Amino acid sequence: MSRPREVLAAAAATLREGGVASPDHDAAELLAHVLGTTRARLPLVDEVPAERLGEYDALVARRAAREPLQHLTGVAWFRHVELAVGPGVFVPRPETELLAGWAIEVAPTTGLVVDLCTGSGAVAKAVADERPDLRVHAVELDEPAHAWAERNLAGTGVDLRQGDFATAFDDLLGTVDVITCNPPYIPLEAWESVAQEARDHDPHLALFSGDDGLDAIRVLEQRAARLLRPGGLLGFEHADVQGESAPAVLSSAGRWTDVRDHLDLAGRPRFTTARLAR
Ligand SMILES: C[S@@+](CC[C@H](N)C(=O)[O-])C[C@H]1O[C@@H](n2cnc3c(N)ncnc32)[C@H](O)[C@@H]1O
Repeated sequence: MSRPREVLAAAAATLREGGVASPDHDAAELLAHVLGTTRARLPLVDEVPAERLGEYDALVARRAAREPLQHLTGVAWFRHVELAVGPGVFVPRPETELLAGWAIEVAPTTGLVVDLCTGSGAVAKAVADERPDLRVHAVELDEPAHAWAERNLAGTGVDLRQGDFATAFDDLLGTVDVITCNPPYIPLEAWESVAQEARDHDPHLALFSGDDGLDAIRVLEQRAARLLRPGGLLGFEHADVQGESAPAVLSSAGRWTDVRDHLDLAGRPRFTTARLAR
């Protein structure tokens, strides 16, 4: 038996040494996971049983070696929904919750929403959860990621497909009200600057998109223009350094109006929205 405070302090020190960005938080999340409780309820725990300590130490060592926290707990939260995640799928990020929130706000009643590059299914699942009136479709190219999405979207009513977003949903051409997309957008040359957790554990298909990171966004501009109804809305995420270059992909195409860029909660440029000209 050991006292939780001491166990947590030692684990946080190990994580700090490993360069983990939020050592106290992650130490507590992992302990809660091992004890089958929540972080908020940890103060109610008097002792950590000896038989749980070995398991905890092993997880802390893996986190210190920079495996993503969510791969170790198997869970990621996104707005109000829980997602199963692990090797083979991009871990949904809190900043993407804003893009999902935008779609939830702007989609017309009983409208048609398509989530391109759905990964774990995070955006599609959140939209379906908060707007049960909508018809939601999603597509993912990568086989392992698609398998995670299948698991996460089971029972939600979302129509999930496997394929390339460049050609997906031929049956919906000209009818979609809102498109969301969190595409790969990191410039290949920015490899060095990507956090170790992402570089080593997020699929590369989820991260990188050509020399300037805008290749997928250029394809998205073309596909979205074909899928949306006139006046339909597109929202997509981009890197913080693409606050001008990403909206410019739409502005220069000459068929979009109301092109706007939006900041995330840290005040960084994060997603672009626009309306297909009528
Ligand atoms: C940055 S991740 C976003 C995943 C998810 N939407 C989220 O926000 O957590 C990009 C996703 O796009 C997928 N992807 C990349 N190229 C694609 C393509 N041509 N067609 C469909 N999906 C693609 C990747 O496999 C990855 O799952």
